Amino acid sequence: MATPVTAPQPVLDKPLQHYGRRTLVRAAPGAPQGSYKILKIAPLTPHIGAEIGGVDLTRPIAEDAAAELRRALLEWKVVFFRDQHDFTPDDHLALAAVWGSPEVNPFFPKAETAGVSRLAKDAQAIGNENIWHSDHSFMKAPALGSVLRAVEVPAAGGDTIWADMGAAYDNLSDELKSRIEGLTAVHDWVPSWGSTMTDEQVAAFREKLPPVEHPVVVRHPVSGRKTLYVNEPFTTRIVGLSEDENRELLDELVLQARIPEYQVRFRWQADSIAIWDNIAVQHYAVNDYYPQRRVMERIAIAGAPIS
Ligand code: SIN
Repeated sequence: MATPVTAPQPVLDKPLQHYGRRTLVRAAPGAPQGSYKILKIAPLTPHIGAEIGGVDLTRPIAEDAAAELRRALLEWKVVFFRDQHDFTPDDHLALAAVWGSPEVNPFFPKAETAGVSRLAKDAQAIGNENIWHSDHSFMKAPALGSVLRAVEVPAAGGDTIWADMGAAYDNLSDELKSRIEGLTAVHDWVPSWGSTMTDEQVAAFREKLPPVEHPVVVRHPVSGRKTLYVNEPFTTRIVGLSEDENRELLDELVLQARIPEYQVRFRWQADSIAIWDNIAVQHYAVNDYYPQRRVMERIAIAGAPIS
C-alpha cells in the first residue's frame, strides 16, 4: 500500500488559520437585495463590492436614483463608478448628500470647497492609510461612509482594498462570539495620528477628541447586521481585560480584516469614484506606487453614535 503523502501545511497565525469554505452572506437577513430599475450592478465578488453603471454623477441625482444608490450601498457595502469626467466639488458634495452631511477629518488639510479633502501622496509623505482601518472610529459618532474620487493615479499600483466586517463577525467561532458579546473597546487617535504631532498639538486636539468607547460588535445602524467594529490603528484596548488578555484578544480580532475572502480590491482610474459604508467595512490603501503620484479627493459623511 502506498504511503499517503501529506502536503506541507503552511504555518499561519492562529487567528487567520482556516481551510475551506467561509460563510459569506451579502446582506443582513431580511434586507432587500437585487432588482434595480435604474442602476446596472456588476458585482466584483459575490458579497462585497460592485461596479455601478446607469447613472451620471455629474447630473442632479433624482430621488428614485438616490433611493437605489442607498439600497445598493447597503447591499454591496462599497460601490464603484467609472469615467465620471468633469466631476466637480459641488457634484461631490451632492453625491455625499444622498447619505448625509459632509464631515471634515480634523487631521486632513482641506481644499477650498467645504468638506472636500484633497489627499496628495507621492508615497514619501505617506499617511496612515496602508493599515486596515475604519474612518473616524475615534469619534463618538464615527463617519457613516466616505466618497472617494481619483484625480491622478499611478500607471500601476495604488489600489484600495475593503473588507466586509459583517463577514468577519459571521466567521468567528461560537466560543469567540460569546466571549466578545457585550464587550466595549476604547478608540483613540493618539497612537496613530499623534505620532506625527508635537506634544502641544496632541494636547490641543485631545480637548476636542478624547478617547471614546464603542461596542466590539455593533449592529449596523440601517441593516441591523452584527459587525465586528475594532481596527488596528484606533482601537487601543478592550475594557475590563488585563493587558495580556487584551493583546491576545484584540490582535485576533483586528487581524480578521486581512482575510482575503472578506475583501474586494479596486484598481483605480482617473475619474473613478468609490463610496463605502464605513460601519460595514474597513479599508486599506496599498502603498506600492513610489515614486509615482496619486491624488484623491474625499468627503466623509457624518454619522451618528453607534451601538
Ligand atoms: C483612506 O484611507 O481613507 C484613503 C483611501 C485611499 O486613498 O485609497
